[in-house]
Amino acid sequence: MISQELLYRRVAQRVEGMIQGGTLRAGDRIPSVRGLSQKFSVSVSTVLGAYGMLENRGLIEARPQSGYYVRPIQSPLPEVAQTESCETSNEVDLMDLVLQVVGDLHFDDRAVAFGAASPSPEFLPTGKLNRFMSGALRAQPYRGASYDSVKGYHALRVQIAKRMLGAGCSLTPEDIITTAGTQQAIVMALQAVTQPGDTVIVETPTYFGLLKALEALHLKALEIGTHPREGICLDELERAIEQEKISACVWVPNFGNPLGHKMPEDKLKRAVHFLNSKKIPLIEDDIYGELGFAEERPKAAKSFDRTGNVILCSSFSKTLAPGYRVGWIVPGKFRKRIEQLKYTSTVATSTPTQMAVASFLENGGFDRHLRRLRRTYQDLVSRMSQAIAENFPEGTRVSRPEGGHVLWVELPPNIDSIAYYKLALKKGVSVAPGPIFSATRRYSNFIRLNCAISWSNKVEKAIRTLGKLAREWK
Ligand SMILES: Cc1ncc(COP(=O)(O)O)c(C=O)c1O
Repeated sequence: MISQELLYRRVAQRVEGMIQGGTLRAGDRIPSVRGLSQKFSVSVSTVLGAYGMLENRGLIEARPQSGYYVRPIQSPLPEVAQTESCETSNEVDLMDLVLQVVGDLHFDDRAVAFGAASPSPEFLPTGKLNRFMSGALRAQPYRGASYDSVKGYHALRVQIAKRMLGAGCSLTPEDIITTAGTQQAIVMALQAVTQPGDTVIVETPTYFGLLKALEALHLKALEIGTHPREGICLDELERAIEQEKISACVWVPNFGNPLGHKMPEDKLKRAVHFLNSKKIPLIEDDIYGELGFAEERPKAAKSFDRTGNVILCSSFSKTLAPGYRVGWIVPGKFRKRIEQLKYTSTVATSTPTQMAVASFLENGGFDRHLRRLRRTYQDLVSRMSQAIAENFPEGTRVSRPEGGHVLWVELPPNIDSIAYYKLALKKGVSVAPGPIFSATRRYSNFIRLNCAISWSNKVEKAIRTLGKLAREWK
């Protein structure tokens, strides 16, 4: 008679074969326990035993009230390396290149949009959010058409303060000012703590919107080497601060763009205390903070700040609706200055969108939506890494993000990513070329790919196109 153990193993091997052979891919739901027991003519407890074995080996995972799923697999490609610091600060001259690329990324609707870091609308609760907006406006028709207070819509600030508890921050609504997205928050934070000509420390590579802001404000960037999973190198940061006068640091400690890194908690705490001791403000971009792949949301740098030296900037652009332009800033000790800057730049944030987001946070099931979104992004990042491994030439390396929805890809050194992005666009696929992520236009053979697009034959074909372009590069 066959032992129970052997039976489990046989069933487990058949499911594993489906995973290895590509029938079941990362993120796919595997057949229900009952369904498989009927199909293989074995008992339910045998299937459960087999699934337990596969779970122990990290091949599948159980999701509460949802069933078993194939776990995301780590990319077989080598990981991108830690980057190097620049010796000196540099003026930024990227505006024309960034505007050209961003124009191409946003306005060619026919292209498969791996270039812009925007989630596809089907992942966002747009219909529900719009209904919340109509409901809120019906309930308070004049409110929506009136100027809001400079600090922002009170009910929204209450909801943001509640959410920030999850990031380890005890805030009151008075500690928060709403903004038209993270970008406005970062620009105001920079304006509050710097003068033209000052130097600001950034991660490298970093989000090009930040570099554009530095250029517009006539600030210099000092790029500090960044680990692809653990963020900016603190030893190099400390050395740079000994050598040059630094007015501020701007980082994305939780799931940076484009690396997807997450600074370990101890390191982040050490960085906050060090910068506080040097009285150098830290501008924290937390736009991806709620989009980690782990169950628990990581702490924000702000949570370690006892002196008001950290300015936290964030928004709902990656989680609810980029076009609503609803974000916020926690200005710490720079509150008065930031309020003045907000008043002089926009007077107030748009009221109807703030009302809609406030009621969605209160009653729309935001946590449930986020749980689904995080899973979806994790699955898509994993699928995209696999597809890159299958299609790109030897010499390709890829990041291992712990959150967010972008991948940073190093192509073989002979590939010029600006020429590559132009050719790819002609073939109907957009990518973001590496040089726009650096004040000194490094990363000439890197691209950033957005994974927040529904997986489809069209997407697979687009990756094959990109791979072929890279393989046949002359
Ligand atoms: C790291 C980072 N910061 C800021 C922004 C801009 O965000 P918002 O649309 O909220 O202004 C983005 C958008 O892609 C981003 O990736």
